[in-house]
Amino acid sequence: MTVSPSVAENSPTPSTAAGLRAGAAGGTRSATDAHPDVELIGVTKRFGDVVAVDRMNLSIPASSFTSLLGPSGCGKTTTLRMIAGFEQPTEGEILLAGRPIAGVPPYQRNVNTVFQHYALFPHMDVAQNVGYGLRQRKVAKAEEQRRVGEALELVRLGGYAKRRTWEMSGGQQQRVALARALVNHPTVLLLDEPLGALDLKLRKEMQLELKALQQEVGITFVYVTHDQEEALTMSDVIVVMRDGLVQQMGGPSDLYEQPRNRFVADFIGSSNFIAGTIASSDGDDRVTISSERGLTLHGRITDRSASPAIGDTVTVVVRPERLEVAAGDAATATGWTAVAGRINQGTYLGDQTEYRVHTDQAGELIVRLQNTMGANIGQSLGPGDPVVVRWREEANLVLVA
Ligand SMILES: Nc1ncnc2c1ncn2[C@@H]1O[C@H](COP(=O)(O)OP(=O)(O)OP(=O)(O)O)[C@@H](O)[C@H]1O
Ligand SMILES: [Mg+2]
Repeated sequence: MTVSPSVAENSPTPSTAAGLRAGAAGGTRSATDAHPDVELIGVTKRFGDVVAVDRMNLSIPASSFTSLLGPSGCGKTTTLRMIAGFEQPTEGEILLAGRPIAGVPPYQRNVNTVFQHYALFPHMDVAQNVGYGLRQRKVAKAEEQRRVGEALELVRLGGYAKRRTWEMSGGQQQRVALARALVNHPTVLLLDEPLGALDLKLRKEMQLELKALQQEVGITFVYVTHDQEEALTMSDVIVVMRDGLVQQMGGPSDLYEQPRNRFVADFIGSSNFIAGTIASSDGDDRVTISSERGLTLHGRITDRSASPAIGDTVTVVVRPERLEVAAGDAATATGWTAVAGRINQGTYLGDQTEYRVHTDQAGELIVRLQNTMGANIGQSLGPGDPVVVRWREEANLVLVA
């Protein structure tokens, strides 16, 4: 978003981010601070019979961009509201910067929240909206102006102080809401689907901006989303939740490359699933699987804490982009898994073509081929054509759960 020339005299001050960073530190944080910013220890929240959050243990590293990701109703907002202090845990304990915060009201926690529906005050201009919290806390006028200016620069709305919020686009309004939270110099910023109301293109733009902003100011962001792509784009750490339970926590590539169970493998990216049993094991994480329909696969168990026995039922996961299609008479090389099949359907997706291939030994397999400039066997395939689907054995991820 560009600032129009008529208001460009409010040019960014070079110390903006540094000022906010110092503010966030509040004189008490340092790089050697041993505590995570937010810790949940055995936190359960019940609403009557509904268990919204179930024995959650979570440790959110300082200055990280951490996302809570999961389907509707899995307990993301409830978790955020407990950290903010709007809800109390039924059981368990929450620590902020190492200190228990039970009984501390929301306004005394060094935490601010940005919601999807950002509820700006329509009768106030942008600067008044952003400075609202500071005025409530009786911060001196000059200090308010300085901090509001700083926060607006950070969200790239330097020239918009006097605008009415209803004159602004959705993305700009969301930035005002962000500035309103940042102006309080929180240690932790909680964001509940803040981009949900924006159209796809703006949303993508704002994702990158939010990530850059977080890196600039170094505040811990806890970001709620049900959109896996959004979580992958922005996060240092993703916490995957289902029915109030944490399924897995890790960096984006950890979750994609080492999903611990079928839910995570299915929720993050798309997957082919091949059911089978363990035929042999090297005693470590390498196993040989016999599929239900007689295919032999060599793979790696993703959950190192699991110790399955011979004969146990498992699921082999293979990502569609790890598969390739070869001519129907292609030979099988060592180190590869190969299955004969016939093309069911091909769908052109622009950058990729997706094929659904019927195989006797592994059911229907989804294959995604990149549409590069060079010749690609995929470009000439039609329904009924015999093919061999093959992939490197390293792509076989074995799920025990
Ligand atoms: N105040 C409440 N009273 C009763 N039940 C509630 C309350 N708040 C949440 N719940 C229930 O707790 C569960 C978790 O809700 P929560 O709002 O945390 O989910 P969510 O992951 O944020 O979902 P969404 O993606 O739809 O926002 C749901 O079953 C919901 O119906
Ligand atoms: Mg929610």
